[in-house]
Amino acid sequence: MKSENIAELMKKSEYSEKAIQYFIEKINVDCMKEPDVYFSYTGPCGDTLEIYLKIKENKIEDAKFQATGCAGAFVSGSALCNLIKDKTLEEAEEIKIEDIITYLNGLPKAKIHCACLAKTTLEKAIQKYKEDKINNIVTKTEGISR
Ligand code: FES
Repeated sequence: MKSENIAELMKKSEYSEKAIQYFIEKINVDCMKEPDVYFSYTGPCGDTLEIYLKIKENKIEDAKFQATGCAGAFVSGSALCNLIKDKTLEEAEEIKIEDIITYLNGLPKAKIHCACLAKTTLEKAIQKYKEDKINNIVTKTEGISR
């Protein structure tokens, strides 16, 4: 489908100009070789978001995502990745669903849960990163005590 047609359809569905632009330009839609953490989460609607994070000294250096889902999932993923870049993990965890929606200059009412999908995937990715780090420390400590 041509991007003008996509834009027209999205406009009819009440997506903002910014969201439409992000969708067409596929902002932050990519995979990442050797991310520090990868997490894939399928929401109750059946759509899936995969997130890739590069983390250095507790700071998110880069964030990319892939989605199998609706335009709302894509634009929410795009916005979320922009919002968390250069943030500490704690700052990223504090990003709210409303922040994603505000960043996009709004989302159609029926698509609010798409921002929840992005936010939940991020939460789970950070949780996994922290758990992996703890497990790594435990494994290393066990190695030392042997
Ligand atoms: Fe499932 Fe949009 S409908 S994320």
